[in-house]
Amino acid sequence: MNTLGAAIIGCGAISPLHAGAIASMENVQLLAVADSDPVQAVQTAQTYGCEGLTDYRELLERRDISMVHLCTPHHLHARMAVDLLKAGKHVLTEKPLAHDVPSARMILDAAEHSAGQLGVVFQNRYNDPSMRIKEIISAGSLGKLLCMKGIVTWTRSEEYYRNSSWRGRWATEGGGVLMNQTIHTLDLLQWFGGEISAVQGSVTTDVLDQVIEVEDSAHACFTFKNGVRGLFYGTNAYAVNSPVELELVFQEGTLLQRRDCLYLWKDGQETLLSEPPAVSTGGKSYWGTGHSRLIHDFYAHIRDGRKFWIDGVEAIKALELIAGIYRSSESRREVASGQHL
Ligand SMILES: NC(=O)c1ccc[n+]([C@@H]2O[C@H](COP(=O)([O-])OP(=O)(O)OC[C@H]3O[C@@H](n4cnc5c(N)ncnc54)[C@H](O)[C@@H]3O)[C@@H](O)[C@H]2O)c1
Repeated sequence: MNTLGAAIIGCGAISPLHAGAIASMENVQLLAVADSDPVQAVQTAQTYGCEGLTDYRELLERRDISMVHLCTPHHLHARMAVDLLKAGKHVLTEKPLAHDVPSARMILDAAEHSAGQLGVVFQNRYNDPSMRIKEIISAGSLGKLLCMKGIVTWTRSEEYYRNSSWRGRWATEGGGVLMNQTIHTLDLLQWFGGEISAVQGSVTTDVLDQVIEVEDSAHACFTFKNGVRGLFYGTNAYAVNSPVELELVFQEGTLLQRRDCLYLWKDGQETLLSEPPAVSTGGKSYWGTGHSRLIHDFYAHIRDGRKFWIDGVEAIKALELIAGIYRSSESRREVASGQHL
């Protein structure tokens, strides 16, 4: 089997999860890391025994590097992904696909014309409860899905924002709790429920008003084309990072995700369907356990010449949903699908 050469752009908080997954695969070698901060580039290169670059564009001509992981701030995803896709690289970008929908569309266009594939890190789709929920919806084993809710109550400190050059600003983060933290849960809700016909929502900055431009709290109500109703609440204004809570009510039972376990409530009885894995993944608990699974799966698809399933077309859906919530919040009206932007 040929060895695939890989690179990571952006050597910040999330990059060790990518480097760890790369190291755990046979016939894959991390050949370079790139970070505009020279200290970060050199230190990370030393840690992984690879080359350290300060300009990602040096990767574009490298024939020995076909796989590039994008772990940079949101506003840089579009420019970097487009350059890399034009150079024929396979690009696995961290969420969100881009910091706004027009930039995301530029990536979709580049991906359509590239010899490389685009994958987006929505690793929570690989969590056991998420996969089980999706299976149950697809099999119809609990009857029709009627409604669902997702609740994310997390905390982000003033320092988290003050110590970052890009978080908390519209131009660089593209949004607040919706765009950065709860995008995973919004992605799951739209993945479970299918196409959305309308969204009504509102955003506020409840506790970090003096610190950030963007919202720290949001709620929304979605109507899906199949009639399913979805409710969502997300905040960074809590005092701890509580596990994400999900509830999906079907005609013949209810699925509940609590403390990362999945339960079925049916006929007056609660049954445990899945528990979180015992092994620590090295990341923060609220990042979930799916990073390694997703990265392995992306490489397996590339090796087999299959199309990776969480591509740009799939990943822009959560971004469009978020744009819909912002638009609804501004106009104080329900926003119909297709009129988000
Ligand atoms: N999937 C998840 O659960 C998850 C969790 C955390 C972060 N993320 C995502 O990962 C991405 C990075 O987040 P982070 O928390 O690691 O951020 P970070 O600020 O810790 O790291 C970003 C790195 O990018 C570097 N950088 C900035 N401009 C650059 C440029 N022009 N060229 C090369 N490097 C540059 C910075 O120097 C920094 O080292 C974001 O998209 C974020 O949303 C995803």
